[in-house]
Amino acid sequence: MRELKITPIRNGTVIDHIGNGLALEVLRIIGVRDLDKDSTVSVALHVRSGKLGWKDIVKVENMELSPRKANAIALIAPTATLSIIRDFKVREKRVVDLPPRIVGVLRCPNPTCISNQSEPIESEFGVLTRRPVVLACAFCERTVDDFLRHLA
Ligand SMILES: Nc1ncnc2c1ncn2[C@@H]1O[C@H](COP(=O)(O)OP(=O)(O)OP(=O)(O)O)[C@@H](O)[C@H]1O
Ligand SMILES: [Mg+2]
Ligand SMILES: [Zn+2]
Repeated sequence: MRELKITPIRNGTVIDHIGNGLALEVLRIIGVRDLDKDSTVSVALHVRSGKLGWKDIVKVENMELSPRKANAIALIAPTATLSIIRDFKVREKRVVDLPPRIVGVLRCPNPTCISNQSEPIESEFGVLTRRPVVLACAFCERTVDDFLRHLA
């Protein structure tokens, strides 16, 4: 077996089954630069996967994802699974799920939308269709399907 094992983590989050090539976007969502400097972040790109063909994996020590970040990951990497690791064991496992309202994660593409003015209004989108995922702004109804370009 030719396999390079990543060092296990004691506490943290494993984001597995990320679509091939999307790990760097996941890192951007997590905001790895803001993590505490003692936390190891392991990234595996282009790993063989039974289900997906190829996948990426991200393992972050000492971090649990906020619901907002989990929602953003659901948008760009809908096949991802989240495993919460405590004391080296998988304590909880979740598939990422697209909630009916996406608040504060994306910018509206409409420059004149009220959510893009200086008003303290958080962006909000509803799910218009799920396959493919298309969202509609709650304020101006402008649709978005290119989430990478509109992450807040
Ligand atoms: N202590 C740990 N440190 C780092 N990664 C871990 C640790 N424990 C589990 N993992 C990883 O967490 C994920 C889920 O672990 P699990 O044991 O449930 O694997 P699995 O049986 O392959 O599950 P799945 O069906 O989700 O692929 C896997 O990617 C596994 O490599
Ligand atoms: Mg597995
Ligand atoms: Zn809008």
